[in-house]
Amino acid sequence: MKVLVVGSGGREHALAWKISQSPKVSKVYAAPGNAGTALEAGVENVSISEKDFSGLIKFCKDRVVDLVVVGPEAPLASGLVDALEAEGIRAFGPNKKAAQIEGSKVFCKEVLVRGNVPTARSRTFYNAQEAAEYLNAVDDEPCVVKADGLAAGKGVVVCDNRQQALEAVDMIANQRAFGDAGAKFIIEERLMGQEASVLAITDGKTIMTLQPAQDHKAAYDGDKGPNTGGMGAYCPASLVDDDKLHWIEEKVLLPTVVTLNKMETTFKGVLYAGLMMTLSGPRVLEYNARFGDPECQPLLSRLKTDLVDVMEATIDQRLDQLDPLEWDDRPAVCVVIASKGYPGSYEKGFKISGLEEAAKLPDVKVFHAGTKLDADGGVLTNGGRVLDVVALGESVADAKRKAYEAVAKIHWDGCWSRSDVADKEINAKK
Ligand code: AMP
Ligand code: GLY
Repeated sequence: MKVLVVGSGGREHALAWKISQSPKVSKVYAAPGNAGTALEAGVENVSISEKDFSGLIKFCKDRVVDLVVVGPEAPLASGLVDALEAEGIRAFGPNKKAAQIEGSKVFCKEVLVRGNVPTARSRTFYNAQEAAEYLNAVDDEPCVVKADGLAAGKGVVVCDNRQQALEAVDMIANQRAFGDAGAKFIIEERLMGQEASVLAITDGKTIMTLQPAQDHKAAYDGDKGPNTGGMGAYCPASLVDDDKLHWIEEKVLLPTVVTLNKMETTFKGVLYAGLMMTLSGPRVLEYNARFGDPECQPLLSRLKTDLVDVMEATIDQRLDQLDPLEWDDRPAVCVVIASKGYPGSYEKGFKISGLEEAAKLPDVKVFHAGTKLDADGGVLTNGGRVLDVVALGESVADAKRKAYEAVAKIHWDGCWSRSDVADKEINAKK
């Protein structure tokens, strides 16, 4: 089989790496990919953007691609899977309608409320004035203001009080800081607790829940500083034990898929529940319609089952016929190495050293998130999050130690990472 992975981040490198291991697969293309996919055995980059639907379709037809795997949310939300399917090309990922669960927070809430899925109490607004009147009428309490549409993870403002909420509403709805993503917005109660990511692969009939993971959204140690796309992750996360995972399957994932079906929306792909583990139980903060980045990297590092079999069964709605997923028992820890200045502005084009030394370490895999190849074959930084260093270990502490041993071998001007990835898990087990 020939498989095309769409996207250019660490998640897509991990997907291409995992898919290339399938005995069924002869060739993996990454569009546009990065230096990591370019250097991966069995993977070839093609310089077509994830936005160029007709270019992707033409490539698939010319090369007779058997399966397309869409990594990021933006092409899913704008209907890449629909466009491919309309041309008879098999694609893994939700169609445009189903991807709204991530693409529209208002739609997501509607599904959650209809399905009686536990989530924060919320209200939807269509203009700033209505929202200001509401905020002035209710108690001055912490809340969260969320732009409806995709805003590269920045459309959510967690507020301590009314004043901050009014400012967030002004930014989203009046100043349109996120453009049309702010045409609608929601204000919801602020929940407290630790966050967990529970991802499932579903074909709209059967749900295959993956092992729970946790990411590290804050930039700096001790969960301080601004939010990022994720500075690290680990899997499994004991915060979600077997009982809780069962509960989440029954009370969160299942009613979500059933409700979507009732709304004539079959979700096929990765359904990712972002959960707050509150004192009164798990609550859904959001849904994503794809693998999490960086959660995908430790997850796929542990998955033993052939991912291509799972993806094909999802497309054909026969997940019920597959054996349960098999996992490496060892936990995985992923540390992100970022550019100086990230998550604010940063420069690109720094030469990365030490990748070969890091690759020699046992049980370590370095996925590339924001890199490109130099004319002479060297690797240059090309983004804010640059590398995702994953290690498997006998324990979480062992995996952490191995990951940081690899991180220490890698260098470029201004590179930095959090030093406490997985500490929450390690300390919880003490
Ligand atoms: P979302 O994109 O909806 O997951 O929001 C991004 C981040 O904002 C989440 O990972 C949480 O850290 C935070 N967040 C979102 N909704 C809430 C909420 N209701 N209460 C507290 N924090 C929240
Ligand atoms: N790790 C969070 C996300 O992928 O949205």
